[in-house]
Amino acid sequence: MTPLASAASAALLLIAPFDKPLFTTCLSSSFYGSYRAGLNTYHSVFMPDATCFDSFAVGGPAAEAHVMEFTRTERELVWVEKEVVEASLTNAEKESMDDFFKHFGYIHATVPNVGGQQAFSGSSPHPLEVLHQTPDALLLSVPSAEAYGIDLILPRFWKSTILPSSPVEYIPVPFEDVEPIRNVLGKLRFDPVVASIVNNISLPQMKDDVRFLTGEDGKSGIVSRHSFTPGAIVAANWIKARIEESGAKCELWTFITGFTPNVICRYESTVPSDTRIIVSGHYDSRGSFGSTRAPGGDDDGSGTTSLLAIARTIGRKGLKFHTNVELIAFGGEEQGRLGSIAYARKLKVEGEKIALVVQADMLAYRAPDEPLQLGLPETIGTPEATQLVANISAIYSPELIVGYSAACCSDHQSFYDVGYPGTQVFERAGPIADPMYHNSGDLSDREGYSFEQLYGISKVQFATLLHMAGFELPK
Ligand SMILES: *[C@@H]1O[C@H](CO)[C@@H](O)[C@H](O)[C@H]1NC(C)=O
Ligand SMILES: *[C@@H]1O[C@H](CO)[C@@H](O)[C@H](O)[C@H]1NC(C)=O
Ligand SMILES: [Zn+2]
Repeated sequence: MTPLASAASAALLLIAPFDKPLFTTCLSSSFYGSYRAGLNTYHSVFMPDATCFDSFAVGGPAAEAHVMEFTRTERELVWVEKEVVEASLTNAEKESMDDFFKHFGYIHATVPNVGGQQAFSGSSPHPLEVLHQTPDALLLSVPSAEAYGIDLILPRFWKSTILPSSPVEYIPVPFEDVEPIRNVLGKLRFDPVVASIVNNISLPQMKDDVRFLTGEDGKSGIVSRHSFTPGAIVAANWIKARIEESGAKCELWTFITGFTPNVICRYESTVPSDTRIIVSGHYDSRGSFGSTRAPGGDDDGSGTTSLLAIARTIGRKGLKFHTNVELIAFGGEEQGRLGSIAYARKLKVEGEKIALVVQADMLAYRAPDEPLQLGLPETIGTPEATQLVANISAIYSPELIVGYSAACCSDHQSFYDVGYPGTQVFERAGPIADPMYHNSGDLSDREGYSFEQLYGISKVQFATLLHMAGFELPK
């Protein structure tokens, strides 16, 4: 990413609680995204020009805004937020944001050439600047080269997003674009053919697949699937090969130099179709500070395994679809959904249609004494899409207790933010409870890792695809 301006001229940043009326003002053309600032609270970031800024000087819709200066030259804006996790986990956690500031040099030592950027020299007196702060979030100004490695030093329950280098358009999902989902939801009932297909997912195969991805099987040699590691490349090539065996065409799509690519696999519709359905997960992972091991068995080896299970079943059954279907394993999710943002924006710019995105991120963890669950997004998602998934779950995986979660924001958000319908499937109707979240111990062979739940949620993701896309089996 290249800095916007080469001159060291300061721009004004305006940050205000997310509010739709703001987008009817001149601010709409200087929007840089809305980010989580607290539980179900979002702050919108704008970089207005002086004329626009002056029009808000006295009161008006931006009265609650915070204003600060930012000089873009070779720096990026990075939003850092505390995730929604069970208090029992955070209380046990000794890391704090103080350590984060102390560890900054670690990024440079670990990933010397991230994002194709010249590494930070270490001589700057202000490597990190805090521009805005809430109890649960920070907006930082970071040297460009380090911005891509922020996740390596973040406390475990915090995550970061690099803001785009130019303004983005705020596009709510148009009502008429949700019509296909409403139609399927309105007519939804048990389909024995769909049931026989989703029940063909092989649980033993899922165990093998996740063990390959985590390196637990001793065959893949994967130590980490962090976005800059050789293990992520091994995983990308392997995922591509497995999904291609099922009849899809796959592409390794590089979105930023130095990052592992998105694995984008497509089954062409057998009838004319001007839209597509995306079923996705992310294959990159995050480990513990200072450790090179990042097995990502749950986050998001589980969602990636769901994709593979769906692909393998499509192949075994010889399924063909009546809508274009894409199975995508995204890269760069842990650095702020970089792979999915790039792809969603590309499709939007090209005027492509998407009927639905169903992202799977963390499907397998089951807390002690809790039932098998399916968690759906409380805020970020198209309500009809979320309802469709809930109702499909009741039909094909009735063993799952369906509920809502404030834990949020996986790759479906990148599509939702540019006006495409999308939702997410998650492991719990509540905050994140997995003690191995963003930890080097996130293996599949451990207490709480439930293949039964992973299998149940996979069936739901698959059945949603089948009901939405329409399909045929060989005669
Ligand atoms: C899936 O279906 C195939 C035949 O279509 C069958 O051979 C295989 O045993 C089935 N697997 C499972 C797990 O049901
Ligand atoms: C979804 O399921 C709920 C619970 O069974 C039901 O009340 C509702 O009517 C269903 N929605 C649609 C649109 O079918
Ligand atoms: Zn994840």
